[in-house]
Amino acid sequence: MKQLAALMVVLAPLSAQADGLAAWDRIYAVASHPRCTNCHVGDSGRPAWDGLGYGAARPHGMNIVAGESRIGAETIPCRVCHIGAAGPNAVPHAAPQIDEAWRLPPVELAWRGKSSGDVCGQLRNPDANDGFDLAGLVEHVQQSAFVRYGFNPGAGRVPAPGSVDDLARDLQLWAAAGSPCVGD
Ligand code: HEC
Ligand code: HEC
Repeated sequence: MKQLAALMVVLAPLSAQADGLAAWDRIYAVASHPRCTNCHVGDSGRPAWDGLGYGAARPHGMNIVAGESRIGAETIPCRVCHIGAAGPNAVPHAAPQIDEAWRLPPVELAWRGKSSGDVCGQLRNPDANDGFDLAGLVEHVQQSAFVRYGFNPGAGRVPAPGSVDDLARDLQLWAAAGSPCVGD
């Protein structure tokens, strides 16, 4: 009995870590999806049009650049086409419309083209993550109109896998397991 108890003490953290890694795999399937990475592009400031039916990965048409403002203030503001009010997003290839000022995230929230290990390392480190800690991440995911859009983009666009609730729950599972990354 004693030995069994000792074994359980060793195995319990291992299985928590396995659950945490499984949760992370589901989180990465979302974070690496074009509905998220087309905005989470990093310092190029160039949004992408991957996975919209134009074939291979490609930048946003019309030479759109978000600039330091992240809203295109230096050139053509995003809001000229992406109106900041909830829309039905029913017309294929029309500019998506949500109840939020359409813009790119800060440069450090760059996920496009990055490996699971890289994005994992970024997300668990507030210094590499625009100051978001894990509780802040969960809150952001639950409240963000951008994240809601990713799961329900309309107009024939492929949604990110799962739902807002699934993603929030997986982030909580991952955090509770000590936010493991592949290769730790
Ligand atoms: C239209 C652009 C856009 C899209 C699409 C988008 N985001 Fe973001 N995201 C942002 C902006 C802007 C921020 C910065 C925080 C803010 O201003 O709300 C952000 C911040 C975040 C953050 C918090 C910061 C961090 O990295 O820790 C998370 C998490 C996040 N986004 C997840 C997602 C997920 C998941 C998807 C896809 C389902 C997604 N985003 C799609 C624009 C976008
Ligand atoms: C001149 C009009 C116009 C401007 C200005 C514009 N966009 Fe777009 N954008 C579009 C159109 C149209 C689409 C839809 C393309 C499609 O679905 O085929 C689109 C799609 C996108 C997508 C892809 C969404 C997805 O689900 O994959 C992102 C990301 C994006 N725009 C970001 C931006 C950002 C950031 C800005 C400002 C820096 C901006 N756009 C400015 C017209 C515009």
